[in-house]
Formats: sequence, C-alpha cells, structure tokens
Amino acid sequence: MKKILAILMALVIVATCGVAMAEDAPKIGITIYQFADNFMTLYREELVRYLTEDCGVPAENITVMDGKNDQAEQTNQIDAFIADNVDVMIINLVQSSSAASVIQKADAAGIPVVFINREPTAEDMALNGNFCYVGADARQSGTMQGNIVLATENKGDFNGNGQVDYVMIMGDPENVDAQYRTEFSVKALTDAGLTVNKLFEQRGDWDQTKGQELAATALTQFGNDVDVIFCNNDAMALGAYQAIVDAGRVVGEDIYLLGVDALAECVEMVNNGQMTGTVLNDHNGQSHTAADAALKAAKGETLEKYYWVDYVMVTK
Ligand code: BGC
Repeated sequence: MKKILAILMALVIVATCGVAMAEDAPKIGITIYQFADNFMTLYREELVRYLTEDCGVPAENITVMDGKNDQAEQTNQIDAFIADNVDVMIINLVQSSSAASVIQKADAAGIPVVFINREPTAEDMALNGNFCYVGADARQSGTMQGNIVLATENKGDFNGNGQVDYVMIMGDPENVDAQYRTEFSVKALTDAGLTVNKLFEQRGDWDQTKGQELAATALTQFGNDVDVIFCNNDAMALGAYQAIVDAGRVVGEDIYLLGVDALAECVEMVNNGQMTGTVLNDHNGQSHTAADAALKAAKGETLEKYYWVDYVMVTK
C-alpha cells in the first residue's frame, strides 16, 4: 500500500514540475534583493510554496537569503551557495550591474542561474553560461497605466486646462521596471494625441513611506493642478493614497491614482474607487516559471535566455 502511494505521489509530482523522488531533488540557493519589499515577499513565498508543495522539493534543499538591499552582502550569499555546491541558483539581484560577475563565477563553477525581477542588460545576457531571466516586460505595465487614464471620462484632465498634469513617483532605477513604467505610461497618453505636463518626478525606491512623502510634497507644491499621480508600484501608490486623503483630495472625483503589482489591498481599493487602476504583476506566473526553469537547469537542460510573463490591466 505504502509503495503504491509513493508511486502515485511520484506520478503527481512528475506531472507538475518533474522532481520524481525526494532523493533526486536538487539543492537550490535563492537570494532576494530585500525581504522588506511588499511585492518580492509575495513572490518569494509563492516560489518556496510552489517548489516544496507542487514540485516536491524537500524544504531542507532550499536556502532563501535576504540580500538586505546590499550588494556586498548578497555577493557573499552567492559565494556561499557556490562553495556549498548548490545545483542551481535563483537570484533577484540587488544591483543589476553585478550580473556579469555572477554569471562568470556561476559558469566557472558549472552552476546554472535563473535571474528574476531585475533584468540584466542585453550585453550581460549575451555572456556564456547556462542562465536565464524570468520576468515581465515593464513597457507593457507602463502602457497599461496610461491606457487606464485614457479610458477615463475626462482623459486625465480634471482641471480642464487641456493637458494631463501629472506627478510621477518612480521606483529604484536598479530595476529597469522603474524606467520603463515611467516612460511608457506617459507615452501611451502622447501616442493617443494628448498633451502632458510633468509637474513632478522623483524616485521613491518602491517604498510606501517614501511614496507618501513624495506625493505629499507634490500635492503641497502643485495643489489642484495635479490631475494624475502615477506610481511605478502599488506600495508607493498606497503611500500616495494616504497623502491624497490628507490633502483633502478624492480619487475619481478630482484626481487619478495608478499603481502596478495588483497587491490584494490595491485591487480592493480599485474596486471601491480609492485607486483608479493597477496592473497585475503576476508573481504566481513568474515564480512558477522561475522554479520550472531552475528545476530543468538542475537536471542539466539548457535554458532559453528569456522567459516572459504577461501583465494584466486591473480596473473597476
Ligand atoms: C515591482 C515592485 C518591486 C520591484 C523590486 C517591481 O517589478 O513592481 O513592487 O518593488 O519589482 O525590484
């Protein structure tokens, strides 16, 4: 009976991600740029859940480290994974610019790497080695933010001056997502023939508190001139929402507020009108794709360079 059960369980596991027997399971080293990031927390938790529950990798085979937003610290973690001879690494870099050195040392040690969330440059992606990038094309999320504004009744022009007067709260540029979302949200508006007016643009580093501070500063400085607040992610939009309330403004009535990620609390806010819209940054799809790639590479398969996961627009 026990044997039949084991075979059945193995079959179920093979059907999902291919770790047939616990003793064949690879040793996986994971490092996340910082645990104190709302989105990467969801991503990390789902990654570990999927690897253990759905793919049958024993928890003791998986080491997950907090890069603490410090590249030197993360480099030590990667060196330790290599010294420990892990079968594969899943890496969310602190600084994308360290990709080349990671690729080279991993390749020298014969350890495949799956980069996630912070995309290395095309030049680094062309280096030798069995590694890939799993992510979402941030141009898409920016365009979707712009399209949400375009779909509003007044096309983002509350004050009726014939232009979209906007505030941009940016993420940490270590992730190209910040740059692309900033550029493509506005491009969607100008491509549609609208005139835009940038009132304010500063980096809030993906952080809720900074998002609130920056939105408060912008609202104090520009008052009712502000039509739209674009935030490169939802954590900063949550902060900006607080600043909007404190300034006595009302989302949907005299200002629009946009984020990216579709954190559960933000989806709820979109539903009840406290946010104009957000964009699903699919941490389930991305973490599963990253895990699948890692398990394949650990078995010796050659990875493709890129694995993309789509964004999805979220409106009321
Ligand atoms: C997410 C942000 C997150 C960042 C971390 C982005 O893709 O939208 O919420 O802070 O990745 O690098």
